[in-house]
Amino acid sequence: MKIGIIGSGAMGSGIAQVVATAGHDVKLYDAHPDATKRAHENIRVTLRRLAEKGKLSLIEAGDIANRIDMVERLEGLGDCGLIIEAIVEDIDIKKSLFKEVEMYVTENCIIASNTSSFSITALAGACQIPERVLGIHFFNPATLMPLVEVIPALQTQAEYVEKTLDLVKNWGKIVVTTKDTPGFIVNRIARPFYSEALRIYDEGIADFRAIDKAMTDKGFKMGPFTLMDLIGHDVNYSVTESVWRNTYFEPRYKPSITQKRLVEAGYLGRKTLRGFYDYTKMNDTQDVILTQEKSDYISNRILTMLINEAYDALYWRIASHADIETAMTKGVNYPKGLLAWGTEIGLDKIVENMNDLYSTYREERYRVSPYFNRL
Ligand code: NAI
Repeated sequence: MKIGIIGSGAMGSGIAQVVATAGHDVKLYDAHPDATKRAHENIRVTLRRLAEKGKLSLIEAGDIANRIDMVERLEGLGDCGLIIEAIVEDIDIKKSLFKEVEMYVTENCIIASNTSSFSITALAGACQIPERVLGIHFFNPATLMPLVEVIPALQTQAEYVEKTLDLVKNWGKIVVTTKDTPGFIVNRIARPFYSEALRIYDEGIADFRAIDKAMTDKGFKMGPFTLMDLIGHDVNYSVTESVWRNTYFEPRYKPSITQKRLVEAGYLGRKTLRGFYDYTKMNDTQDVILTQEKSDYISNRILTMLINEAYDALYWRIASHADIETAMTKGVNYPKGLLAWGTEIGLDKIVENMNDLYSTYREERYRVSPYFNRL
């Protein structure tokens, strides 16, 4: 099947490489032809490097790159069986693109969006044949991150979902299915990793370095502040804000003013050489003073909020038990599935921790998920 990719930025170019590596002919389109040329060149360089490392033969690398065709007009995507849109995150631009795409593709062509924050149902609603629209959400970088979330819209027909799940598995990805709700699985359940860390920092309980250390000591590959610096505060802030808005201002997802100020200052993290850490210094390491007691307090508080969030997602039937576990271990590399981690700690203990936080702060943010009240 020929696959059309619209938008050849960070995500579109990665997705093109993934599907071409799996053997598909790919057509890559971007509103800015320079972006497509750049993407094609970057893909060639990446593939050549993989060949140098012995992960592919030079012939294979050449074949994969040759399977990716650049097209200068949307009309050129007419013979594709699947279109994946990865353009700028703007709902109106996406809707009008979907409408235009429908003019050129066949009626069975699946049209998918890689959006992180918009309702797939709203995108489908803009289409003539909404039954073939769904979400295929990759993680950055698409070539390396194994997880893909598939999101059926309210209108999507089951046969298109099945077909997509099979396709994504054939690309060598681990696929989970999620309800069309804000943040899907990963971007919803991961929120407390950032927001509770920011809250602890804002309260002056600990420095960001100490919070990072507490979380890496707990088994997380990166601490929340290192990770936010890597993701970029602009991106991380806008995901939080979008989940918060689209859940009608659920207090647990309220964005952090501290993070907003970083965005306003242009301190976006690694990409601007300054975020919480200073990347102009060779080694921005200072001694971290962290008692065992404080380390336990920080990691238990963040972990409790994460586990509560994961059970809440189960309660709201965002995804199956297995898919929630897979999503958090494969999409954001958590050391364990949060649901299993909860049972290991003891669900009674999680409820007790949540109730302690609630009685300290008297904020809705700290209410225990109804999941536990039903037990
Ligand atoms: P990007 O800014 O790197 O690339 C977007 C590309 O789309 C640009 O090359 C731009 O020229 C092109 N474009 C803009 N409007 C267009 C139009 N009307 N028609 C055709 N091409 C157009 O953005 P990125 O990071 O690749 O994100 C793309 C999508 O993927 C967004 O919806 C984003 O939410 C989503 N996403 C991003 C992730 C990330 O970590 N960057 C992770 C998962 C999803």
